[in-house]
Amino acid sequence: MALRRFLVGGNWKMNGTKESLGELILNLNTSDLQEETEVVCAAPFIYLDFARSCLDPRISVAAQNCYKESKGAFTGEISPAMIKDCGADWVVLGHSERRHVFGESEELVGQKVAHALEHDLGVIACIGEKLEEREAGTTDDVVFTQTQIIAENVNDWGKVVLAYEPVWAIGTGMTATPEQAQEVHEKLRLWLRANVSDDVADSVRIIYGGSVTGANCRELASQADVDGFLVGGASLKPEFVDIINARA
Ligand code: 13P
Repeated sequence: MALRRFLVGGNWKMNGTKESLGELILNLNTSDLQEETEVVCAAPFIYLDFARSCLDPRISVAAQNCYKESKGAFTGEISPAMIKDCGADWVVLGHSERRHVFGESEELVGQKVAHALEHDLGVIACIGEKLEEREAGTTDDVVFTQTQIIAENVNDWGKVVLAYEPVWAIGTGMTATPEQAQEVHEKLRLWLRANVSDDVADSVRIIYGGSVTGANCRELASQADVDGFLVGGASLKPEFVDIINARA
């Protein structure tokens, strides 16, 4: 099996000020971070430049969203080219808050994935079922459909990380158990094997998000198909360092 580098993303969401993010960044820059782990911080758009200029170069910067066009009359949107121009190399797309708070459709998420990849951004593509979907037993259908639409828009899987974030686990403290996370990650890898290729199934990182903390990260990280995390609330706290070092 190809070696998959552990990746931990901090999704700061709509939080922070230059002062508080500056403190967070200083803590990251001066902590012992396991070198084998790839670290990405997803900053609010307006702080992309700030985050890139302050963060140690070994930590990458991501935007939390982007639009599907290069430029034009799209008030309030930003393009992958602008993200790159600020020195960020990644974008988070299809986050559950974009899908369910802002009503982004599967189709739009797919178009954004294609456009971001065209502009050479790494894409952290998020998928995940709602509580009622899990309870109705449709988790597989939901995440496979979401993955299918993403896959139709990917021309280079080397630039894509899949983030499985069950909606019921985001910001709720109801972390998926290691078994629940592993079960879905394993099925996603089988889906990639059947629908894309063995090579992609072996090499694509599938990271877990949803109430990851310093206390639960090690057990989750020990699962065979959990290749990292996308962390919300805990990425704003010093314990983010423990999560980065979950495999240490
Ligand atoms: P929490 O870690 O706050 O549950 O958020 C997860 C998330 O949405 C990361 O993108």
